[in-house]
Amino acid sequence: MGQKVRAVVFPVAGRGTRFLPATKASPKEMLPIVDKPLIQYAVEEAIEAGATKLVFVTGSSKRAIEDHFDTDAELEQALTESGKDDLLRSIRDIVPPGVSCIYIRQGKPLGLGHAVLCARPAVGDEPFFVPLADDLIAGSPGCLSEMAEEYKQHNGSV
Ligand code: UTP
Repeated sequence: MGQKVRAVVFPVAGRGTRFLPATKASPKEMLPIVDKPLIQYAVEEAIEAGATKLVFVTGSSKRAIEDHFDTDAELEQALTESGKDDLLRSIRDIVPPGVSCIYIRQGKPLGLGHAVLCARPAVGDEPFFVPLADDLIAGSPGCLSEMAEEYKQHNGSV
């Protein structure tokens, strides 16, 4: 039996040249689908599958990803004061309690394999997920939950 998968590595350091000019100054993982950026769908899918350690491998011009998963006290204050409780909840619950975010820089975009390797100090020998946020696959349960189940049964790479 494989152990529970707690860590997830999001390689988000690519330049996204295929989406230019949209990705000139903002990461392709921040492109919105309705009211959420792509990366948030991936994070939700990983949390649903049991992940509690989110490791983002980022690069230049990816600050928006860190900001998105950080608290914005000023915005929360403004929403509280204007009584917009639903919107307040929607930004507060992006990273639920008990889930932590770790950011590691990939100094040069040396490819996907290299990006995953950059996460090693944060992941060690644990099993981990590697979702590519620009492939959005809707499903219930999500793909990562199904893959975690396979891993539990067979204890090998899926
Ligand atoms: P892609 O093949 O989509 O590459 O990478 P890209 O560089 O983002 O996009 P194009 O080809 O220029 O349009 C697959 C995943 O690997 C990450 C990307 O951010 C994406 O999530 N990646 C790729 C890195 O983290 N580092 C890299 O050096 C390359």
